Amino acid sequence: MRAPCRARCVAVGAAVPERRLTNADLAGMVDTSDEWIVSRTGIRERRVVDPGTPLSALAEPAARQCLERAGVAAADLDGIIVATISGDHIMPTTANLLQHRLGATRAWGYDLANACNGFIAALSTAAAFIEAGRAKRILVIGGDIMSTLVDYQDRNTCILFGDGAGAVLVEAGPADGPGIFGFELHSDGSGGGELMIPSSGSARPRTAEALAQRQQYVKQNGRTVFAAAIRRMAEVSESLMRTLGITAADIDLLVPHQANLRILEPTAERLGIPLERVVINIERMANTTGGTIPIALNDAFTAGRLVAGSRIMLVAFGGGLTWGACYLTWGR
Ligand code: UT7
Repeated sequence: MRAPCRARCVAVGAAVPERRLTNADLAGMVDTSDEWIVSRTGIRERRVVDPGTPLSALAEPAARQCLERAGVAAADLDGIIVATISGDHIMPTTANLLQHRLGATRAWGYDLANACNGFIAALSTAAAFIEAGRAKRILVIGGDIMSTLVDYQDRNTCILFGDGAGAVLVEAGPADGPGIFGFELHSDGSGGGELMIPSSGSARPRTAEALAQRQQYVKQNGRTVFAAAIRRMAEVSESLMRTLGITAADIDLLVPHQANLRILEPTAERLGIPLERVVINIERMANTTGGTIPIALNDAFTAGRLVAGSRIMLVAFGGGLTWGACYLTWGR
């Protein structure tokens, strides 16, 4: 009989473009100001790719850095899951292209689209494969090239997003060892219209008319999404904490999806987690959608804040509407 195991997160890597798009740059493009953006969102700048750079070009260095830190060869991967809404193409998926770029000759791969909650959803999928005994090592990537999906004529949305990718290696470990202790995931499709890209699939193909109406870009009802994000991120974290029988004292690092500093601060406060235990990089990275959590994990790792044994709560909310949380202890 197969020995029970726990899926564990053993290494992280990330890659963001060199190019910085500052609030001052945006103020030259739309009617906004550095003061408005900083006071309403906490964002000072975001990274954006040179036009034509696909997601796989950021996912590859993120993946290589993660594998190197883990001491694992690409050929030893069983699977690759890329959480994104802006992959290189709908078909082939970015995971397939990445499998080839990395030389992960044994690995299957597919993309998973769940917007800002994509990384947690992909992590839960990888953990389920591993704990079912169907894989030993899965690379989970979260990343987006949001600069291809935002309308740089729309001040309501273009200030919020940036580009970047991060990778986490998930592997099988002993059932009584460190790793993933639980997930909680939710959806509420009734709120689908609150945050959407109207012309991005079969419901509204990208006809000349749709493009002329700029329907290929992110549209958001900011206030509604803002209120729902604050409520749901706290709620799902509290619910998972109750399920696992843990308190704020059992969380060394809260790693939330980075959508708005005015969402992160009240979430941490409601959970009773002081800000020095929250990973916040929104001022430099903005919202990279699928990328926010693994990029924040990478920032915490390079700053020496994420170490073997760190007890971490991940939490996210985004378009769908969809939200989720995950509690884990880091490392082998
Ligand atoms: O990733 C997960 C999903 N996304 C989020 O979680 C984002 C959630 N929403 C938000 O973060 C905030 O709602 C925003 C940052 C998008 C907007 O902040 P807000 O404080 O909710 O502003 P608002 O939408 O209530 O707009 C206030 C005013 C409006 O003007 P009027 O109608 O009061 O005259 C907007 O037109 O600010 C105006 N405004 C701007 N002004 C300058 C909106 N965007 C800008 C801008 N610069 N960039």
